Amino acid sequence: MAKLYIKTYGCQMNVYDSVKMEDLLKPHGFELSNEPESADLVILNTCHIREKATDKVYSELGRIRKGKEQKSAKGENMMIAVAGCVAQAEGEEIFKRAPYVDIVVGPQSYQNLPELIEKAKRKKGWVIDLDFPSNSKFDSMPEESGDRGVSAFLTVQEGCDKFCHFCCVPFTRGAEYSRSVPEIYREALRLISLGVKEITLLGQNVSAYHGEAQEGKTWGLGKLINRLAEIDKLERIRYTTSHPNDMLDEELIEAHANQPKVMPFLHLPVQSGSDKILKAMNRKHNRKYYFEVIEKYRKACPDIAFSSDFIVGYPGETDQDFKDTLDLITQVNYALSYSFKYSPRPGTAAAVLDNQVPEEKKTERLLILQELLNKQQLEFNKSKEELILPVLFDGKGRQQNQYHGKTPYLQTIVIESKYEDLIGKTMKVRIQKAGQNALYGIIVDDTSS
Ligand code: SAH
Ligand code: SF4
Ligand code: F3S
Repeated sequence: MAKLYIKTYGCQMNVYDSVKMEDLLKPHGFELSNEPESADLVILNTCHIREKATDKVYSELGRIRKGKEQKSAKGENMMIAVAGCVAQAEGEEIFKRAPYVDIVVGPQSYQNLPELIEKAKRKKGWVIDLDFPSNSKFDSMPEESGDRGVSAFLTVQEGCDKFCHFCCVPFTRGAEYSRSVPEIYREALRLISLGVKEITLLGQNVSAYHGEAQEGKTWGLGKLINRLAEIDKLERIRYTTSHPNDMLDEELIEAHANQPKVMPFLHLPVQSGSDKILKAMNRKHNRKYYFEVIEKYRKACPDIAFSSDFIVGYPGETDQDFKDTLDLITQVNYALSYSFKYSPRPGTAAAVLDNQVPEEKKTERLLILQELLNKQQLEFNKSKEELILPVLFDGKGRQQNQYHGKTPYLQTIVIESKYEDLIGKTMKVRIQKAGQNALYGIIVDDTSS
């Protein structure tokens, strides 16, 4: 067997794609390895979202190169492939900066990897595939196999037509596309048969899902979720990432109210709390509308927890705009959040604006923002102390008898247990202590589902 090493950067969709690449290459004689130095094929599945993400890829390539040279000194070969969003965005530029790379393959063409590898072997030169083929890549994927863990991702929608002015994703992932309902249902069944208990539906704008159903009709995300919820052994359903503008799907709101398998957690990035900045970002919604969406979901599911992404220092952001963001955060009260300094991306509308915010200002604002968000996260975690929550256990901890799992609100929980084989089980846990990033508790009921 040839050894395959895959390193994944970026979002959950890249995590999903890496598993798919492994599935694809297994029948071609590859097995996964944790050691890049001895690998016959190294794939870097890359992210282009911020400058730092792209820089990381080039420094990793520098390290991988040394392994390639050492192997080559022994008369052995190491093939290096760059996949993902940096591949799509930079294309041949990658060969110029790192000529020892053999293959560059984009996120919509990695199904061609087996042929690209053969081509690279024969050609002894660079091989590149950045196509957005008319046939979906999902048509050529082998059936899911192997250990998929307790919680798995399932891409239902890909690409983006929204073109926020800061974002490279519409360029790297292409136009919005939804997979068909039967195709998704089949993949969900397969994952469940492999032991998966929780599925997170993925899409760059998952709430814009509009896939073809059996009867030739188009279904939205709410309807899709209700269909998947019929799968008996599927215990939990999550979805990410949602865009505020696509959230008025009555069936989705209804699912949050009445479908117990839908977890009470919603990642709803707002980016900024200033109407002026939201407009400049081309987000196509204002803060009032965002509050309305939040209200609708809170009404349907009073204990729903929210998370968001924030960008500080977008071109033209003043102290007042930043204050508006802090104010929005205070009003919503988030359980979890991700925040970033604005990073200009080549080819995007905001990158060429001349009112860029100085780096020190961005750093200053990020620190203030994160202090508030961390405080809210800790308070949210503490609000669960003494409660009994159902926990789905998904792994073993470092200590003996230690297990970790997730609450419905996506909080990580750690417990010590005399029970064995907790992984894959849902149990009632009393929360004893809450920290910034994890909860601690004890099992109060061993009638697992
Ligand atoms: N599709 C999702 C998220 C896409 S990227 C959405 O619509 O919200 C994930 C996050 O990265 C974004 O929510 C945004 O906060 C951040 N991001 C994207 N481009 C960025 C940039 N140029 N600089 C800093 N952060 C960025
Ligand atoms: Fe990027 Fe905006 Fe599309 Fe999200 S909605 S992927 S932030 S362009
Ligand atoms: Fe990064 Fe591409 Fe995901 S740019 S965030 S890997 S869609």
